[in-house]
Amino acid sequence: MSEPAEFLGAFAQALAGMLLYAEGHPARARGIDAAYEELLDLQLETPRPLFTFLGDEVIFGRLPLREMRNWDWSMRLAEAGIQRLEFMERVSREEFEAFLVDVLARVTMTPIDTAEARQLRPTSIKFGAVGVRGGAGDLPQEEALPTATITFSLGEEAETIRWLHREVQEREALPLAEAEAVVRSLSVAMHGDKQMMLPLLQLKQFDQYTTTHSLNVAVLSMAFAEFLGMGAADVRAFGVAGLLHDLGKVRIPIEVLTKPGKLTPDERVLMNTHPAEGARIILESEQELDLAAVVAYEHHIMLNGLGYPQVKFRRSCHEASNLIHVCDVYDALRTRRPYREAWSVEQVLPYIEGRAGLEFDPTYVRSFIAMMRKWESQVAVVSDERAPLPASVAAAVAGPAGPEGSPSSHPV
Ligand SMILES: [Fe+2]
Ligand SMILES: [Fe+2]
Repeated sequence: MSEPAEFLGAFAQALAGMLLYAEGHPARARGIDAAYEELLDLQLETPRPLFTFLGDEVIFGRLPLREMRNWDWSMRLAEAGIQRLEFMERVSREEFEAFLVDVLARVTMTPIDTAEARQLRPTSIKFGAVGVRGGAGDLPQEEALPTATITFSLGEEAETIRWLHREVQEREALPLAEAEAVVRSLSVAMHGDKQMMLPLLQLKQFDQYTTTHSLNVAVLSMAFAEFLGMGAADVRAFGVAGLLHDLGKVRIPIEVLTKPGKLTPDERVLMNTHPAEGARIILESEQELDLAAVVAYEHHIMLNGLGYPQVKFRRSCHEASNLIHVCDVYDALRTRRPYREAWSVEQVLPYIEGRAGLEFDPTYVRSFIAMMRKWESQVAVVSDERAPLPASVAAAVAGPAGPEGSPSSHPV
């Protein structure tokens, strides 16, 4: 058994022992001691272990712990609102016990004295629902339960995507497990609260656009698939396809991607290779990702056959491509680009509506607008790092927005 799995086993046993035996009982102390020892062992290898509990699955860092599949405590913890657990540094035995008491209170839904719990709980153990930072994602501070410190942002997911793009650039290999882990993590962030949440990343630097945009299109695509009533496996497949739709851009020089002005004809030709290039990279790495490959290839083909790559014979695109195409354009227009300001929602939705039947499938346009209207208040703009945005940047990104520049003449 791996170190992380051994720790989780001992952790669950300690909790079970605490349920059975009162304070002061030697069996209770033994269970806690054993779990604490396992934690110290684990931290020798991984100083800041991070677990995500997704019901039927446990993710350690970014990788699923296959041996802990269907582990019943994962479900219990996730249902108790503990979907993420991170040990930031070494903790004392006493701190560890206080943390276990806190976890147990959540699992058994026992109200605990929050003031006391707060005093005891070390700040170096972070656990709780996977929520999002900022605005609508903040949990009220004075609640009996939950009491955890929620510091989740999409920083780790963004970092994983940057790493994934570098891997593809340098090694031509697509790390599928990590892409899937990001999608799972986004899915948890979307459902961490009682209601649906759409955590959308805010762009800070133009050269980070592809990362931010990929995560946002993944979130929007999953939300859209869910809104249309698709099952969990399909929703995740749409998430992976959304995440990888612009993968071919790893081959486009950054100067072209971030160019403030109009692209030259040569640069345009180069830019237009990204759908076919993305599909090629995906298929060469993972045969089973055919949906993602199709979406990468087709996401710039319009309903009327225009767009790129140019198709000789008009045919309809896969429904996933049509669906993700809408999400793609929505996010591209909502984001500030070097050549134009961000558009407001009130500008983007009518624009998309106006292109129904030309660029977009009218059925999906109607559904997308209905979804955005329904979940408008649940859109949370998050940062991909813990530090808040400097006020000047936040103000610039937030507006004023104006529909300057033709969106169709620029890549999304
Ligand atoms: Fe694209
Ligand atoms: Fe895109």
